[in-house]
Amino acid sequence: MEYLLEARNITKRFGGLVAVNDVSVGLKAGEVIGIVGDNGAGKSTLIKVVSGVHRPDAGKIFFRGEEARIDTPMDALKLGIETIYQDLALADNLNVYSNIFLGREKLKKFLGIINVLDHEFMHNESRKVLNSLEIEIPSLRNIIRVLSGGQRQAVAISRSIYWDAHVLIMDEPTAGLAVAEQSKVLKLVTRLKEQGIGVIIITHQLHDVFSVSDRLIVMRRGLKVGERITKKTNPDEIVSLIIGAEAVET
Ligand SMILES: Nc1ncnc2c1ncn2[C@@H]1O[C@H](COP(=O)(O)OP(=O)(O)O)[C@@H](O)[C@H]1O
Ligand SMILES: [Mg+2]
Repeated sequence: MEYLLEARNITKRFGGLVAVNDVSVGLKAGEVIGIVGDNGAGKSTLIKVVSGVHRPDAGKIFFRGEEARIDTPMDALKLGIETIYQDLALADNLNVYSNIFLGREKLKKFLGIINVLDHEFMHNESRKVLNSLEIEIPSLRNIIRVLSGGQRQAVAISRSIYWDAHVLIMDEPTAGLAVAEQSKVLKLVTRLKEQGIGVIIITHQLHDVFSVSDRLIVMRRGLKVGERITKKTNPDEIVSLIIGAEAVET
């Protein structure tokens, strides 16, 4: 099957440091891949290239088999490549549906002339997307600040899905979550997969990716040092790739 998203031979330098060194990664629709590696391995830099935050020094990105120009985050969003960073980029003082529509608010005409926010529309649409993902949040009028970490993550994911994500990239999605919340987020990833969305999870918590991913990519010091079908490997092998106890593959 053809890749939905493919990064080929990506290199990104910061001054003299090669943060990502000739890395290639492909993602199919309905597939979950995990990118693992120690702090500083280049995981976040790689996905920032794919999501338009950084311009690569070398390499190309392909979307549905065609070369894609991703010069800005907006270019990535237009293709349906949505990225959720660790800070989630939610507005704590706004309610759930306002966050789902943050920056893309729905307006309606009041008295036929004045633009006002269409709260009812945004509320109902948000409820629909949360229901489709089986996310339970009792009131969408609650502000983000009162939600749990897992619920916030779910709101961030819902926002991406509502805006038509084909690829969802999550950087350390379960960091800082309680164990019960972590498993809810991982279940949510499984639902995204069932809907045909391609998911990339960046993490240094191996436990997470072993339960949900189809494939694992291991990075060390900017290099891709291994790629495994999740079912055909085990945590010991992945750990030794992460720390460099095994010979580097090309
Ligand atoms: N904006 C930046 N400017 C300079 N160096 C950076 C920048 N972003 C990341 N780096 C460096 O690039 C390397 C890879 O970082 P990063 O991609 O964040 O790794 P990871 O996400 O795997 O922890 C690190 O050495 C980091 O310090
Ligand atoms: Mg990182």
